[in-house]
Amino acid sequence: MYGSTELRRELAELVNTRFKAKRQVDEHNIFVTNGAGSAVNDLILATCDAGDGVLIPSPYYGGFEPDARIVGKVHSVPVPAPQSSPHFQPSIPAFESAMQLARLHNIAIKAIIVCTPNNPTGRTIPREIIRSYLEFAKQHKLHAIVDEVYALSVFREDEAAGLAPFESVLSWENIPDPERTHIVWSFSKDFGMSGMRSAAAITYSKAVHHAMHPYAVFTAIPRAIEDALTRMLSDTDFVTSYLAENNRRINDHYEHLTKILTTAGIEYLPANAAFFLWIDLRKWVNLLAGHTAGSHVQRNDETHLLATITEPPTPTSEDTTGALPPLAPIPTNRKEELCLFEKFIDGGVYAAPGAAFASPESGWFRIVYAMDKEILEEAVGRMVKVLRQIEAESHS
Ligand SMILES: Cc1ncc(COP(=O)(O)O)c(C=O)c1O
Repeated sequence: MYGSTELRRELAELVNTRFKAKRQVDEHNIFVTNGAGSAVNDLILATCDAGDGVLIPSPYYGGFEPDARIVGKVHSVPVPAPQSSPHFQPSIPAFESAMQLARLHNIAIKAIIVCTPNNPTGRTIPREIIRSYLEFAKQHKLHAIVDEVYALSVFREDEAAGLAPFESVLSWENIPDPERTHIVWSFSKDFGMSGMRSAAAITYSKAVHHAMHPYAVFTAIPRAIEDALTRMLSDTDFVTSYLAENNRRINDHYEHLTKILTTAGIEYLPANAAFFLWIDLRKWVNLLAGHTAGSHVQRNDETHLLATITEPPTPTSEDTTGALPPLAPIPTNRKEELCLFEKFIDGGVYAAPGAAFASPESGWFRIVYAMDKEILEEAVGRMVKVLRQIEAESHS
């Protein structure tokens, strides 16, 4: 139920060779699931009880929240990164504060979720930062779920820009608490196969592997797909050439997109992995805030908007979903950020607002550039049109 032996062996081989696992992984360390979301869900169910909490550095991939909440009834507790910190990653004191805040709400923290290479920033997070998080987890006997779904989509390094080469946690000499550290990887991203719904949780912990067994029946994948994936992974020449070509193309599109954004005067956080760019539209969000003093936001039924962009639902006193009262303050100008999101939609372009990633600062948007260059150019053109309109209105 948790994966054919053949597929688990091929996955172990992939992890040993391409993630450079220091302590060799075999089929007993692999638990196959129908997507990384299900792997996170199964790990949450195995390590937390309903009503517990998981700490997640924010901004974070919005899917972690439903992965924790919907089945496991586990609360996501954001650990906000300081405003525009170099890697958009919080410090250990921020983890301590988030844990204390959770305690005040009677929420016991049982795990942390870390994502590198990161969604939404498209950056590898330096080893020292990830290590400090895993040391923190060890100190508090927390499980660490490390989402490495973009591990094989790292297309450049630029240490001067803080873009470190990617190192899987599995490649470390000493993982702080290996029995409580679990890796998630998926075919969805690195192989562009999200429709195949195939992924794996990788753990050295027999206890956690065993605890996930009861859920395997709900998150297993069809045998025919397992066989096809086994054949694909066993063709290592294909895998090598596919990954090289994939990363060459992502890099090419990254170069193209960043050039057109620079010409348009839109700043962005340099990236080196996945296929996202975290762009800085604070200037226009601030213009909206200054110019309208909130008058643009009457169309923003925030609950509806947030639902469409997978933000955690706004809790009510009768809430039975397990959602929390906000544990992190709503940042200034969030409404204006959502207003800009709507203006983009009206202008025929989708850019995901920071709110969808629990961003602690308003004005950042995530754009995806894994598409034809002509489409990218058209999309940026539509965004620029909206931004110029805001500028014109602010001068009027
Ligand atoms: C960081 C991260 N983890 C997990 C997932 C879910 O992946 P899957 O399609 O394999 O469930 C995504 C999808 O966007 C993601 O970005």
